[in-house]
Amino acid sequence: MAAPTIFVLNGPNLNLLGTRQPEIYGHDTLDDIAARLVARGEQLGVDIDMRQSNHEGHLVDWLHEAQAEGAKAVLLNAGAFTHTSVALYDAIKAISTPVIEVHLSNPHTRETFRHKSYIGMAAKGTIAGFGPTSYMLALDAAMAL
Ligand code: DQA
Repeated sequence: MAAPTIFVLNGPNLNLLGTRQPEIYGHDTLDDIAARLVARGEQLGVDIDMRQSNHEGHLVDWLHEAQAEGAKAVLLNAGAFTHTSVALYDAIKAISTPVIEVHLSNPHTRETFRHKSYIGMAAKGTIAGFGPTSYMLALDAAMAL
């Protein structure tokens, strides 16, 4: 039987991790984070499908795909769309696949426009503020669902 899959979806500007505001987001690239998730996934017996897009509609399509493909869970760092996207809120509500909101930084300690999360209003739970470790904690949380 095929191993279950966890989708890890990343939104705008996260392709620039490593050079983007390292004082906030650190020096690891998205590929570094993906490698760590894949290694941990191998230990846990789960496939990691890591993706990034700067386009909101791609993230909506991938949430639908997660359900269609029978993914075990989605880890979603929607970047700035977190704070704006009713479309992503609706997409999470529209699927039964559990979605865990992930952030490198803690948006609640930052600008007030980051305090509202459309993703958090629909997600199973949120992990934020631990840098790349947020993704690892979210993977453990997904496996415990
Ligand atoms: C982020 C936090 C968001 O507010 C921001 O727009 C990002 C990254 C994080 O991972 O800390 O792009 O999602």
